[in-house]
Amino acid sequence: MPVFRASAPAKIILFGEHAVVYGQPAIAVPLNQLRARVTVQADLAAPAGRVRIEAPDIGLQANLDELPAGNPLAAAIQAVGQALQIDHFPACTLRISSDIPVASGLGSGAAVSVALLRALAGFLGQPLPDDQVCALAYEIEKLHHGTPSGIDNSVVTYAHPVFFRRDQPVETFYIARPFTLVIADSGIPSPTRESVGDVRRAWQVDPTHYEQIFAAIGKVVLAARTKIEQGQPEQLGPLMDQNHTLLQEMGVSSPELDRLVLAARQAGALGAKLSGGGRGGNMLALVDEATVAQVAQALTAAGASHTITTVVGQSAGKP
Ligand code: PMV
Repeated sequence: MPVFRASAPAKIILFGEHAVVYGQPAIAVPLNQLRARVTVQADLAAPAGRVRIEAPDIGLQANLDELPAGNPLAAAIQAVGQALQIDHFPACTLRISSDIPVASGLGSGAAVSVALLRALAGFLGQPLPDDQVCALAYEIEKLHHGTPSGIDNSVVTYAHPVFFRRDQPVETFYIARPFTLVIADSGIPSPTRESVGDVRRAWQVDPTHYEQIFAAIGKVVLAARTKIEQGQPEQLGPLMDQNHTLLQEMGVSSPELDRLVLAARQAGALGAKLSGGGRGGNMLALVDEATVAQVAQALTAAGASHTITTVVGQSAGKP
């Protein structure tokens, strides 16, 4: 019996989180070394229509009809049924695994959704085009985050660096020279829904101030894109520092993230910032060959639970 498999990468936001929810651009890249994987296999011995879900990483073993309303995995399965106009699934088992840490700003929810949508549609003999996968994954992101901008599902679906602006076609762009990041996990879950909600409330109270912050972040993002395309990635450092200061002003950093950002800079990083929803989750630091090891070490010493070193744009070509 054939097994249908699909996988999708993690992602990291380089510039522009939070402001992107308010129409400013943001830049994010896939992290191909971390992936979510889904397999789907027919269960010939099972009763007709039984869809079994096994996700040992999150301790889940259940049938589809046992999952509560609003469960993102159930929503993804039902989304495939609706998209393909299939009311009754053939009996099957979906196995879900992921090495992307959850609630850490690396897009684990979007990666699981994208891999599941693709694997299940493939199993049903009707693979979905990327645009549709992206749109369905966006609907499922709403269950995770409330009011997502759509950046996570876009990077994860297309697995390319993206310059993202809400309600605009997703743009990929050219990374003229690769650059190295050390990504460090604060070890604290990032409550994205909560931080996005807090920014919304603060914006409602003082729209002028918050819109100034969003616009300033938008300028940083445009400058960053130019540096990346012109092959001057070392000049992204000060832009990361500026972006972090603006996120602090917005109230989405935390003492732990600030400590990691400072430790990275003191160890020789060219710049550093939190990444994603904030309050916890990951931060990133721009490094060169001479400083990569000492920055990673300094981050661990400053309390990071885990660090990843990644080269952005290594296999980049003109889009
Ligand atoms: O915490 P993450 O990486 O899933 O990303 C949240 C990014 C925000 O800009 C804060 C929200 C969004 O939907 O874009």
